[in-house]
Amino acid sequence: MIKPIDVAHVNFNVTDMTRSVKFYTEIIGLHISGRHGDNIVFMNLGQYRDGDNLMFHDIALYQVPLGATEDYRKRAGVNHTAFRLATPEDVDRAAEFLKSQNVKVLKDPITHSEDMDHCLYFEDPDGNVLEFVASTLPGFPKEYLRKDGQLRKEGQ
Ligand SMILES: [Fe+2]
Repeated sequence: MIKPIDVAHVNFNVTDMTRSVKFYTEIIGLHISGRHGDNIVFMNLGQYRDGDNLMFHDIALYQVPLGATEDYRKRAGVNHTAFRLATPEDVDRAAEFLKSQNVKVLKDPITHSEDMDHCLYFEDPDGNVLEFVASTLPGFPKEYLRKDGQLRKEGQ
């Protein structure tokens, strides 16, 4: 068994790199950390120090020729990707902002009972489904993490 310690990145296929770079930088607020040729753009949340000249990325965009063929609810592949915001109010504000930018918002913010995340679903220009979430639980995640700071081992 392999035991990952984190989710490192999520990469999206896009059909119009210029349009998608504009969306992910101007709407989502990601930082471009580098480019590989004309068909890959690496992006992160802006957490890395200056001067290392490395393309650390949380998200990358890959230029591809074919658009999505079917509704994401019906085809195999990624269902959606969520970005965490600081507060539930930020999620509500994001809903208004996205609508003002003519982004396709799938439904108004709701709070999920399974984890008490306040969430908002919307689409990128290619129909990749994205989500903004923020916990409504006081002290999340600190109060809910294991006391030993370790990841759960099999059987625990
Ligand atoms: Fe989600």
